[in-house]
Amino acid sequence: MAILLRLFKYAKPYRYRLISAYCCLLIVTGLTYLIPWILGLAIDSALENREHMQFIVLAFLILSSSLIRGLFTYGQHYLSESTSQLISQDLRNSLFQKYQGLSFSFHDQQHTGDLMSRATADIEAIRWVVSDGILRGVSLITMILGITVILFAISWELASVSLSFIPFILWRGTTIAKQLRICWLKAQEALGGMTTVLQESITGIQATKSFNAETYEHAKFESTTAAVYQHSLKASLVHSSNGAFFTFIFSSITGIVLFLGIRLINIDQTISPGQLAQFIFYLGLLAPSVRMAGWIISSLSRGIAAGDRFFKVIDADSYDFDTPKVSNNQHLRGEIELGKVHFSYSDNIAILKNLNLKIPAGTTVVITGEPGSGKSTLLQLLLKFYNPQSGMITIDETEIASTDPIALRYDVGIVFQDPFLFSTTILDNIRYGKEDATMAEVVSVSEISQLHQFVMTLPQQYETLVGERGITLSGGQKQRLAIARCLLSDPKIILLDDATSNIDVLTESKLLTNLFARLTGKTTIIATHRFSSTKFADLIIILQNGTIQSVGTHSELMVSDNYYKQLYAYQNTDSHKSSEQLTEQSHDEGLL
Ligand SMILES: Nc1ncnc2c1ncn2[C@@H]1O[C@H](COP(=O)(O)OP(=O)(O)OP(=O)(O)O)[C@@H](O)[C@H]1O
Ligand SMILES: [Mg+2]
Repeated sequence: MAILLRLFKYAKPYRYRLISAYCCLLIVTGLTYLIPWILGLAIDSALENREHMQFIVLAFLILSSSLIRGLFTYGQHYLSESTSQLISQDLRNSLFQKYQGLSFSFHDQQHTGDLMSRATADIEAIRWVVSDGILRGVSLITMILGITVILFAISWELASVSLSFIPFILWRGTTIAKQLRICWLKAQEALGGMTTVLQESITGIQATKSFNAETYEHAKFESTTAAVYQHSLKASLVHSSNGAFFTFIFSSITGIVLFLGIRLINIDQTISPGQLAQFIFYLGLLAPSVRMAGWIISSLSRGIAAGDRFFKVIDADSYDFDTPKVSNNQHLRGEIELGKVHFSYSDNIAILKNLNLKIPAGTTVVITGEPGSGKSTLLQLLLKFYNPQSGMITIDETEIASTDPIALRYDVGIVFQDPFLFSTTILDNIRYGKEDATMAEVVSVSEISQLHQFVMTLPQQYETLVGERGITLSGGQKQRLAIARCLLSDPKIILLDDATSNIDVLTESKLLTNLFARLTGKTTIIATHRFSSTKFADLIIILQNGTIQSVGTHSELMVSDNYYKQLYAYQNTDSHKSSEQLTEQSHDEGLL
């Protein structure tokens, strides 16, 4: 019930449409009552008076009321359908907005397919609540109550007998509703599971094909479609058995009414044949209404199950991103401090342990360390993608825990190792963080990131489409585009998370030289396994299993840290030369 009440709130903006739909519905219901009444009168007049004129008037009345009823039925359908579509549009928009504002911790635990099915199948089920539940439900209740009154007015004996089954029918209806709700919930969950597998197998098609895993993926998908079939079938079975039950009950009641009615006409003479016909016509109207009530109970159950899943997302913690597109802090210096920072994603497995670190404003820091030591995690904490369980992170002495994430992300920019590109043009992808950037600005950042030359070789240059997730670009091209995109949005603090790992050392060397010339005065943190950026670093940090193993300049660490020394030596053997050496060597060999 609480879910229904919450859903009704979404209908509030469309109350005038709903009221108009109700008005149409009242007229339709009134005319529905009228037609069997006239039919009864026509039968009696045909049997008794045989007056032609009266007969013609009654026939004309039936015809005109059927016509008017048809027109208002159309109006009611149009209004209820458009209202339910408008409400589902609002629900989808608020769900999408919520998805954007939800934390990474929430998204980490969700399957994409499931979130997609909430925005599609679940919202459709909720839409049925509006059109079937709110509108048709009320119409049916009015209809059932009205017909009950009329049946009693015609013959209380026949009405008492035929309506004595109603409590039993209602009891049965509510039991079925409970069963259906569980069935629909399972069916919707199965649908979410199926969408997840479908979505994963389409995006992961490369992996599937390279491991010849088509049969395995097929079997996996088949098991999800089987689950959808099973749960949907169960729901349909419960629903159909309900329909069959109602048909049986009403056919039996009609038989009993006919038998008793003929007695009342012939022996007691309390009703006329026309009245018996009226009674059976009205009973005939009551039967589909009660059957329809069964259908409404089922769509309500389905809608409530869907509403439950919808509100689980709506009620999850999120932040409001509807803030102005400006940085809060125009005079940010970029001093970063971490004090006793402790972080775990889940299950209390500590990823960062009691981390203390001070990064002076405007400096360049390189963080290196073994895979899984927590480098990317540390960068993501600076953007408030996750919040530490204890300790504090400050930027210019302001704790980021109290900073608005939107404002923070104008000040702090990040480039990931595997950047996400949208299926649009290169230009739109670069402009993603600054829609109004001029072409000169775009070219300038592309030159810095060594992308411009490549773009100019393309037939459509900056207007070239990059395909879904940037599939038509190489890993290194994507990384260079992502660096250009970040530079264009011009954050005060820049985080590079293995952002040049797919770029060849020669290009990387040129890129880094340009980049650091541009980033002078900005605080820059680079998480990397490569040593190419260490020559630009004021400070190098070595992370080891979530703790800081060493901090120092390159020359200090070469003396004090064995791990660093070994890594450096390894990357500077002939097969792993530093970019500087390779560049110098290439010059010598006349390659550049
Ligand atoms: N979203 C997540 N949920 C749960 N655990 C995670 C998540 N992301 C990373 N981890 C875990 O946190 C630890 C640190 O990961 P992180 O990505 O920070 O390492 P890293 O130092 O950047 O490694 P690499 O050098 O491979 O990039 C790893 O053990 C990883 O399994
Ligand atoms: Mg990483």
